[in-house]
Amino acid sequence: MGDWWKKAVVYQIYPRSFKDSNGDGFGDLSGIIEKLDYLKNLGVDIIWLSPVYQSPQKDNGYDISDYRKIDPRFGTNEDMYRLLDQAHRRNIKIVMDLVVNHTSDQHYWFQESRKSKDNPYRDYYFWRDPKPDGSEPNNWGSHFSGSAWTFDEETGQYYLHYFTKQQPDLNWENEKVRQAVYDVMRFWMDKGVDGWRMDVIGGISKYTDFPDYPETNGQKYVLGKYHANGPRLHEYVQEMNREVLSKYDCVTVGEANGSDIEATKKYTDPRRHELNMVFNFDHMAADQKRGTPAGKWAVKPFDLVELKKTLSDWQLELAENGWNTLYFENHDQGRVISRYGNDTAYRVQCAKAFATVLHGLKGTPYVYQGEEIGMVNCDYELNDYRDVEIHNAYRELVIEEKIMTEKVFLDAVAKVGRDNARTPMQWNNGSHAGFTEGTPWLKVNSNYKEINVSQALNDPDSIYYYYQKLIELRHTHDVLTNGDFSLLLPDHPHIFAYTRHSEQEDLLVVANLSESQEVATVSTEGWSPLIYNYPDPPSALSEIQLRPYEAAIFHRAAGESEQLPANT
Ligand code: NOJ
Repeated sequence: MGDWWKKAVVYQIYPRSFKDSNGDGFGDLSGIIEKLDYLKNLGVDIIWLSPVYQSPQKDNGYDISDYRKIDPRFGTNEDMYRLLDQAHRRNIKIVMDLVVNHTSDQHYWFQESRKSKDNPYRDYYFWRDPKPDGSEPNNWGSHFSGSAWTFDEETGQYYLHYFTKQQPDLNWENEKVRQAVYDVMRFWMDKGVDGWRMDVIGGISKYTDFPDYPETNGQKYVLGKYHANGPRLHEYVQEMNREVLSKYDCVTVGEANGSDIEATKKYTDPRRHELNMVFNFDHMAADQKRGTPAGKWAVKPFDLVELKKTLSDWQLELAENGWNTLYFENHDQGRVISRYGNDTAYRVQCAKAFATVLHGLKGTPYVYQGEEIGMVNCDYELNDYRDVEIHNAYRELVIEEKIMTEKVFLDAVAKVGRDNARTPMQWNNGSHAGFTEGTPWLKVNSNYKEINVSQALNDPDSIYYYYQKLIELRHTHDVLTNGDFSLLLPDHPHIFAYTRHSEQEDLLVVANLSESQEVATVSTEGWSPLIYNYPDPPSALSEIQLRPYEAAIFHRAAGESEQLPANT
């Protein structure tokens, strides 16, 4: 099967926040269909839909109670088939979210499983006896605070859940579970779905002896290496590939929680027949401290040198047999310009600069809804947030364990809280930003009168048109897909510069990711600008003068000069 996905650009839709067509305050599939021409005009090749299946919505659809049914909030199965048809007519592919590390506790399998120890579905999930003192089987924590185990009175055992207690983890050791998942995949692919984004795929194989974490760092419940990369992970992924994926011309991207470069090579080396690419998280921690009891909420000032090193390591390590995803935003991350950049005075230049450095890399780029118009974080009061992760963390870190003050916690949420990315899409300056005629499920960001799609479409210098051009470059310049990567100025605290090199063409990507004027000591003699984010390209000869958040990509045909800029 082809590797068309290497040249593709993906657009992620978080359906509940994209476009509401019926006034119930939730985005829906008909709303997405209304906006397909907008996405076609942007130039994207693939849409990844966060989950739209039937769900009690304890984790916004990542808790599925029926894998074959569309949730009425989002529409009907017929709407989904219409979306597939309408997208395909526009030559856009549709990727669905495969959430099979866990189900909802309302799924039939779990409803049966919890009934009795000898129920045929008992072994679809992980049930374990309490320790002799009645406590949890081990000290594993949930990603959403507290223990990863919940006691069920009915049968006197605990069940495992890596996320909320309404998201019990499936037991992939059970062949019937695996076959049931493969059936679901076939069901949708036979309807025309073009691929899968696989939620927490790194978690599907468990260490079934469930060892306690020996190092607790003073915490009652620990999240660590046992939560991912279990002994049978790659065996399962290969089986899934053999039984299902290999039979379709599809694209696959795993959310590879807990995966380092070595594990990523295993997933993405085409000779191993697993996945096309995976999402990693290392580069999204350049403003977070590691290893503190505050987890992801321990924020620090953005460190560009760290970001460059991480991205560069991944570029180099996956250069031969592997493939990278390129992303800064998704529904689990704050907006990149609010975290790593400037979302006020230099919002437009900054959004374009981050887009430039990302889309110049080797891999498949992902644009998250609203990123293409420079949407920013929301900075709400605690009660305005809807995310279960935020509220659970508040209870644990601020109220119960007093690890952080409310102020410090809310400042961190304003940077890295997931709802920052989930505020309704800002379509225009009308009521609720044109997202809904009803009451939106999450407040619209108050800046929608200035930041919205209709403004962007009317401004030829908008972030939107800059993305359109970057996407077009990905389609027209093969060096973006295939060229070698080489980092320049690795220790420069404000400049991100690198080259891409192929036999036909070279690119020089350079960006000042700061508010000050900077000088990049790279020569652009013989290079011509392809794209830049100020009205005129940066002035250059032996060195490049860069204005705040100025960015550009230069190119030249191979052979125009012997030497690429030196790595100084
Ligand atoms: C990762 C998803 O991206 C996130 O939104 C969700 O909460 C967890 N997996 C659990 O499914």
